[in-house]
Amino acid sequence: MFSGWLVAALGLTMTRRSCSSLSVPDIAAYFGTKTRYEEVNPHLLRDVLTVNASVLRPPATERCVPVHLTAVIRHGSRYPTVKNIRRIQRLSELVRREASGSPGGSGGSGGSGGAAGAADWLQDVQSRWEMWYTEDMDGQLVLKGREDLRQLAARLSLLFPSLLTEENEMSISLRSSSKHRCVSSAEAFQEGLQLHWRHSDVQYRHLVDDKLMRFFERCRGYVEGVEKNRTALLEVHKFKHGPEMERVKRKVAGRLGLHQHHLTADLVEAAFFLCSYELSIKSLHSSWCFLFDEDDAKVLEYKSDLKQYWKRFHGYMISSMSSCPLFHHIFRTLDKAGRPRRSTDAPPEPASILIGHAETLLPLLSLLGLYKDQTPPTADNYHTQHGRSFRSGLIVPYAANLLFVLYDCQRGPRLQLLVNESPVRFPGLETEDAPLYRDVRAAYRHLLDGCDFQRECEGTSVGGRGPNIEL
Ligand SMILES: *[C@@H]1O[C@H](CO)[C@@H](O)[C@H](O)[C@H]1NC(C)=O
Ligand SMILES: *[C@@H]1O[C@H](CO)[C@@H](O)[C@H](O)[C@H]1NC(C)=O
Repeated sequence: MFSGWLVAALGLTMTRRSCSSLSVPDIAAYFGTKTRYEEVNPHLLRDVLTVNASVLRPPATERCVPVHLTAVIRHGSRYPTVKNIRRIQRLSELVRREASGSPGGSGGSGGSGGAAGAADWLQDVQSRWEMWYTEDMDGQLVLKGREDLRQLAARLSLLFPSLLTEENEMSISLRSSSKHRCVSSAEAFQEGLQLHWRHSDVQYRHLVDDKLMRFFERCRGYVEGVEKNRTALLEVHKFKHGPEMERVKRKVAGRLGLHQHHLTADLVEAAFFLCSYELSIKSLHSSWCFLFDEDDAKVLEYKSDLKQYWKRFHGYMISSMSSCPLFHHIFRTLDKAGRPRRSTDAPPEPASILIGHAETLLPLLSLLGLYKDQTPPTADNYHTQHGRSFRSGLIVPYAANLLFVLYDCQRGPRLQLLVNESPVRFPGLETEDAPLYRDVRAAYRHLLDGCDFQRECEGTSVGGRGPNIEL
């Protein structure tokens, strides 16, 4: 619980931000899962409380009203984990010790950004930049991450004024992964709601539920078949040492005046992530960003996307099947909320808020059959994948969210999906934004009747590669 003055202080961060003067590196949309939510919804940079009700699209003729919202939300912006902090440390030491780039260097995005000191970015990274990340920060939510969730809660309250109300407070369910950054995000979401309702004290009442939000680490078939299995991520390793990455490494080494053999793919990636962290944590256009041009960024993005695809997404069927408990939980909640009721019955649960990780969202999106292209991304087909629908930065940036909106309509309940506050259609039901709920159930019948966690996860085989769920 907070005392009044703190709530007032929090309130300050909720005020609408005016047009930001921050210069953003032109590579900011290529940071994969380290992408800011604002890169997906740039209008939020002008006004964080922008809500456009036209994204809710049940048929205009059927007098629909929203009766339930299930929101699966990723935690907000966070510090690097220990592994990346150590890499950043090694990178900064190497650059300080060895780099001898030509002054005024041929920086990648040099000249385009207008960041202060763009001209002497090299001096900056060599001698002025201080390593400020410490290992105890290990993946924790940053202040900006708290704001991400508070602001999302405020926008959802505006978008669903009849569901996320003060009167409904006690019937909104909130569940979170046990990880610190998720619990902090769950708190921040509640702060956002309660500040929106102008409460003077914030009360937290979320439950921690790892069975639901961290299903991936409990699925033996997944852990053994994919996560701990180096062969399963072969495409990632091949690409990491392939010609595209070698070229980026050569260019970056050249810009730093380093011998190429000093620089590893991991260190190049650390510099790229450093640019992303300085932006997402401090809203800073870091000098490290000048090491990369847009072509380099696309290659590094592809490397991250390959990893997410093969580790968490359509790459292996077991990854999506590991999310069966969450899938069933969501549909049980929707079933209950959509059930016909007499006026004397208790009202349906207005909202279910589920806070987890990119690792929670990706398998679920994959199970639902979303973002599935004809050709899977591999180490060899980078040049034909520019138009791919699977770009992790647009799907699971910080504070990413998958919304299930259930409407009560004249012809029966309807369901709409939104990803990061934009409408997305169900595979196989592409003619409508909000198809009848019974049609959605029919499309997922094979999963509703099956998708058994025990059976899928206790088996030992990884299952087929590539396309899995037929819709
Ligand atoms: C809201 O979104 C619709 C498209 O979905 C667009 O046509 C309209 O201009 C937007 N309104 C505002 C105020 O941004
Ligand atoms: C590891 O992944 C490969 C490639 O998918 C698969 O053939 C192999 O069976 C997996 N190993 C284990 C122990 O599951």
